[in-house]
Amino acid sequence: MDLHRDIDGELYGEKSAALFHINEPVPGGYYEKEDVMTEKDLLSLEALLSDTTHEVSLLSNAAAFLNEHLDDVCWVGFYLVDDKGDLYLGPFQGKAACVNISRGKGVCGTSLAEGRTVIVPDVSAFPGYISCDAEARSEVVIPMKDNEGRTFAVLDIDSASTGRFSEEEPSRGEIEILEKAAEIVASEIFE
Ligand code: SME
Repeated sequence: MDLHRDIDGELYGEKSAALFHINEPVPGGYYEKEDVMTEKDLLSLEALLSDTTHEVSLLSNAAAFLNEHLDDVCWVGFYLVDDKGDLYLGPFQGKAACVNISRGKGVCGTSLAEGRTVIVPDVSAFPGYISCDAEARSEVVIPMKDNEGRTFAVLDIDSASTGRFSEEEPSRGEIEILEKAAEIVASEIFE
């Protein structure tokens, strides 16, 4: 379905000749904006990133895209691995954040050290959690691998809602989509 902007810049869609704003409930319960990321969004992300091979441009547009397409998030961005194997702040959307995170520290450093997605439904229950944004209550961090399988960055997404990210559906399914999004970003960088 095509999306357009009206004269006030609001997004709207057309379905069965009916026009509606995407964030408004409509008769029949049809919403264009999904509650979670979908496979369809991945195709749009891939198309967006195919415009450039510059890492900063790719990561900047990927952060902007994810921020725009995810509901209920307060920070979306990347931490990159430096030559000592620690993390430093990369392109992001949200409030100013901590610049350096040591390998193994916080959610990001844990994801890097263990090479796995770390899902934190409640940040107050995560030992060693690094608080950058006082609003953040729930977080997911996804490692991003280069062509040799080495983690070169992590994708970090925060929400101000406890339980926003969890092993439960629909969050689990959305996180699988986000893992694919991270793979797309990596493959565009290392293609
Ligand atoms: N909370 C993260 C730090 C980064 S911010 O969320 C942007 C952590 O514990 O690693």
